[in-house]
Amino acid sequence: MKAKDVIIIIDCGSQYTQLIARRIRELRVYSEILPWDASIEEIRSKNPKGIVISGSSRNVPLSKAPMVSSEILEIGIPILGICYGMQLLCHILGGKVAKTGSAEYRRIQVKIEDENAKLFKGLPKRFYAWVSHGDSIIELPPNVRSLAKSEDGSIAAMATLDDRIWGLQFHPEVAHTEHGTEILKNFLFAICDCEPSWNLEGWVEEKIKEITQMVGNDKVICALSGGVDSTVAAVLTKKAIGDKLHCVFVNNGLLRLNEAENVLSIYRQKLNLDVHYVDASKEFLQALKGITDPEEKRKAVGKTFIDVFEREAEKVGEAKWLLQGTLYPDVIESGQESRGASVIKSHHNVGGLPEEMKLKLLEPLKDLFKDDVRAIGAILGIPHSILRRHPFPGPGLSVRCLGEVTPEKLELLRQADAIFMDELDSSGFYEKVWQAFCVLLPVRSVGVIEDERTYGYTIVLRAVESSDGMTADWVYLSRELLDKIAHRICNEVTGISRVVLDVTSKPPATIEWE
Ligand code: XMP
Repeated sequence: MKAKDVIIIIDCGSQYTQLIARRIRELRVYSEILPWDASIEEIRSKNPKGIVISGSSRNVPLSKAPMVSSEILEIGIPILGICYGMQLLCHILGGKVAKTGSAEYRRIQVKIEDENAKLFKGLPKRFYAWVSHGDSIIELPPNVRSLAKSEDGSIAAMATLDDRIWGLQFHPEVAHTEHGTEILKNFLFAICDCEPSWNLEGWVEEKIKEITQMVGNDKVICALSGGVDSTVAAVLTKKAIGDKLHCVFVNNGLLRLNEAENVLSIYRQKLNLDVHYVDASKEFLQALKGITDPEEKRKAVGKTFIDVFEREAEKVGEAKWLLQGTLYPDVIESGQESRGASVIKSHHNVGGLPEEMKLKLLEPLKDLFKDDVRAIGAILGIPHSILRRHPFPGPGLSVRCLGEVTPEKLELLRQADAIFMDELDSSGFYEKVWQAFCVLLPVRSVGVIEDERTYGYTIVLRAVESSDGMTADWVYLSRELLDKIAHRICNEVTGISRVVLDVTSKPPATIEWE
């Protein structure tokens, strides 16, 4: 196979960095993300055809802001700075940046001034784009020209006179920016001279080789969760190293109705994975006793998981690697200090285990997005019933059962959730939404069923659309469908007397309630 073209994305901590990577891969060019403090040697070792510097939540003049070394310019390949990335390039090249507006995410009209600019080939003279930063260039560096302005007169795009270094104040990677894909295409194909030759089949082949080489004769252990990510990671790794992979499935008592049985039978019968099953429900519920704070719950579940897993791993014997189905959004949302992102929720599947168990981490999917993982799962022959599953958080129903988690409340939540899923399935909605689930609120209200007064808990219906879980919109389900779901839940689940609908998007809310 011909060596693939690579674009390196330098992550300065923007929430959109991974979107840039994804858009580039959608254009069939392999892209890899490196943190802003990656060394020049590391960047060079990837032999990239071009570099993109992402945005950041920080500002260029601040001392704590990510600072990319000016040596990056010496590599001699094209560079595109986006938002903060452009301001950083302006600063490095000797220009000036200052705070001129608000830092909110907003729409601007861009007016192209240099119609011959390669970056804007084939674009209309004016288009709408989204910006997220309050800083602008107030003085261009020497040998740099302005390519476009926004309606307030600030510089919306720039380039060096030799057409090698480019900057955009707006985000071409977000769907709301008109012609964003064409701009990225121009950068990749007209400026970096890439070929659109990357695909997922090639990725699978290469990953299998890479895993085989990395692992050698070592044993690898893997905690399967029943979800798409850990399943794809396990099947991929099994293809690479066969019986050296040992899978453990821990039932934490926070799973959905009949989930453990269903998943286990798929693993064993359809995927030929040798899975060691552990029912640790009691231990987890004990650890959650009396806890009401969301982060405390996550920590309690995470810690118990480590205890149980360590114990089970000992039975496997001398394993050197821990396989995890971590995806890029898990990494970014758990916050990495060197990457400048902030912690939103602690995802227990990212931290803890490897250090405590002195294991090396094998994370073959960590640069991928959910839909890539689903596509890879299909290439690997994983049944659709697994691949179609909505994401499910590691701490399970504990973060959907607000207040103290008790077996009684979990049971109500499981019954209600199963009804919601059943109705979504029969109405064809299950596969149209990114994620849907019930949340149980410890709030009781009065109801009446068959002339009897009830005083039960509240169920929230949450259904969202998203492409990667980083942002999400609530989904409009028809009145008829909602009515049917609410009726069924109140009538069939004794102990629930009210059903409400969550109409909050992310941001400002998160997808899960805790
Ligand atoms: P939030 O609630 O942060 O969730 O908007 C974003 C996506 O991540 C899932 N999620 C988790 N996944 N371990 C996981 O593997 C976790 O601890 C966890 N918490 C949230 C959530 O379901 C949504 O898809």
